[in-house]
Amino acid sequence: MEKNILFPQTGGFVHGGDYNPEQWLDRPDILEEDIRLMKKAGINSATLGVFSWSVLEPKEGEFHFEWLEAIIDRLYENGIYTVLATPSGARPAWLDAAYPEAMRVDRRGMRARHGGRHNHCMSSPKYREKVEIIDRKLAKRFGSHPGVILYHISNEFSGECFCPYCVKKFRQYLWEQYDHDIEKLNAAWWTTFWSHRYNSFDQIEPPFENGETSVMGLNLEWKRFTTWNTNDFMKHETGVLRSVTPEIPVTANFMRLFGGLDYRKMAPELDVISWDNYPEFHNDRETLAETMRETAFQHSVMRSLKAGKPFMMMESAPGLVNWQPVNKLKRPGIHRLACLQAIACGSDSVQYFQWRKSRGSFEQFHGAVVDHIGTDDTRIFREVAEVGDLLKKIAPAAGTTVRTRAALLFDWDNRWAVADTKALSQESKRYEETCRGIWEEFFKLGIDMDVVGSDENLNRYDLVVAPMLFLLQPGTAQNLKTFVERGGQLLATYFTGYVNRDTLCYLGGFPGDGLKELFGIVSEEIDSLYPGDRNGIQMADGSIWEVRDYAEILRVQDAEVLGSYTEDFYRGMAAVTCKHYGEGNAYYVAARTDAGRMRPLFEKMMKDARIFAQDLPEGVEYHERSGDEGTYAFYLNCTAEEKAVSGIRGKELLTGTRVDDSLILPEYGAAVVKRD
Ligand code: GLA
Ligand code: ZN
Repeated sequence: MEKNILFPQTGGFVHGGDYNPEQWLDRPDILEEDIRLMKKAGINSATLGVFSWSVLEPKEGEFHFEWLEAIIDRLYENGIYTVLATPSGARPAWLDAAYPEAMRVDRRGMRARHGGRHNHCMSSPKYREKVEIIDRKLAKRFGSHPGVILYHISNEFSGECFCPYCVKKFRQYLWEQYDHDIEKLNAAWWTTFWSHRYNSFDQIEPPFENGETSVMGLNLEWKRFTTWNTNDFMKHETGVLRSVTPEIPVTANFMRLFGGLDYRKMAPELDVISWDNYPEFHNDRETLAETMRETAFQHSVMRSLKAGKPFMMMESAPGLVNWQPVNKLKRPGIHRLACLQAIACGSDSVQYFQWRKSRGSFEQFHGAVVDHIGTDDTRIFREVAEVGDLLKKIAPAAGTTVRTRAALLFDWDNRWAVADTKALSQESKRYEETCRGIWEEFFKLGIDMDVVGSDENLNRYDLVVAPMLFLLQPGTAQNLKTFVERGGQLLATYFTGYVNRDTLCYLGGFPGDGLKELFGIVSEEIDSLYPGDRNGIQMADGSIWEVRDYAEILRVQDAEVLGSYTEDFYRGMAAVTCKHYGEGNAYYVAARTDAGRMRPLFEKMMKDARIFAQDLPEGVEYHERSGDEGTYAFYLNCTAEEKAVSGIRGKELLTGTRVDDSLILPEYGAAVVKRD
């Protein structure tokens, strides 16, 4: 086991955030005060330049980097490292005026006007050229600065563009995907349906709102293309930076389970995974523990993009945000808890958007470490400083990683195909929530599952859950079979293996591509239930699992039936099955039930996989990070009541005290125990 500390320069965790000194260049007093306050808050990094283009290059070809150099120097002198961003997240007015092609075209075919951010065309040659020029200059000027530890590419990549460049590129992309053969594409997309056959690639248009939206294969390829093209743009930027300073790692900040881009395809292009974490704390629909659990899931998604390496929480709000339906303040103590959660989940950083509140414009009331009042005498500042302090106490845990033998299979293509398919019920497909619900149920047992893609090598896992895997990538079925064969515990659900990567249905019975043999069942029909409809599954142990939304009718071939429907015309028919296959077990749950109902099944799988649950009080999270030197156990009390945990021995790092078996967590309290 090696320890892979992300930034050895910092000697531990990174603590910092987005810093926009370019908004305050006429206030040297404020910039000087920033340094003092950063040191006071235990800040050791600042993300510079995310939206600085119009100050860095106020007119085309006229560059002003002196101010940035002065800031990077001054920060460095004070022990604060720079995460240097490329400015491509927002364009200066001169650029759009001179090169309108940089502005994106929407689904209706309408070109955006100048303004906003994150809205450029990823294909525009002029835009790429301008980005390349400034990126190269930045890398040349600052890449060798000892204070610069990481490049941050653009900001929160997102969105699609329907401009002529993008349409042309899409055709080219398809031409390559389908081996230059339009008949291959016609077959894959089943275009004879409704007479949609193409004679050549030039006839293909992306799914314009008033155009072709009824070919599922086309819709899915457009999604894939959007990721491919965003990746291509990102690689254009990373390529320039790496050509100048290959030794500086690069990241791009992701946004949780964002629906527009397949992050699994982008992750390999980055050295470090980072993401922006904005939970809706204290909302009116769930408990804090639930909000935290959902956040833990998002952290796991990010962590799993580069297994075995820490990731970074690039942004989070020190107090509140300004864009949620209700912008509620984080209650006292919650900031500390949420920051510790990021670390517990494998982040090597706690970073904020933003250091100082801007005076005007869109985000003037978005939370920051330093408020308009401008002092350190605020609740938020004190809470941030407290985090700075505790990050130092737990610094030995930096570079360790979360290791687990359980995984949830989550596939972006599948997600898009499920959302797009004309089947099931319009309102209740909920693929993402279904996956998360299952992940959370394991998490309540102290199991922090990895979230992996269909192509992942499953060898390092002993337990895999693959919910609603409607679309099978080439090789996925074999991957699952091999996993079970060599002793894995696998669980799949209704709506598995209906279509291939082109969204063509498997013939000969679902689940296709050999999965019928693995599970020993054939799914013959799927029933969608109205929101008020219920069915049940009678389990062998006498319990009844409530069924909502979906129920598949199975023909059992050679599986053991563990539960059967209690209602309707399929009453008495199999609903939960298990087939012993090779050395492992393949479970199939044919209907939607709350993940909580399936817990006994999960526990059985864990037992067979020799994965052990933690005995946790309600609302307490358990996490582990390990490295050569051992294991750090994190307990987070996400409730307002005191909680006791037991079964732990070691040194607690936040208080420096020894723990012998049990420990008390105060309300919203946490413990980080270096296990004996
Ligand atoms: C995103 C962006 C930031 C800022 C924050 C506000 O994460 O990256 O620039 O707008 O949201 O929450
Ligand atoms: Zn475009």
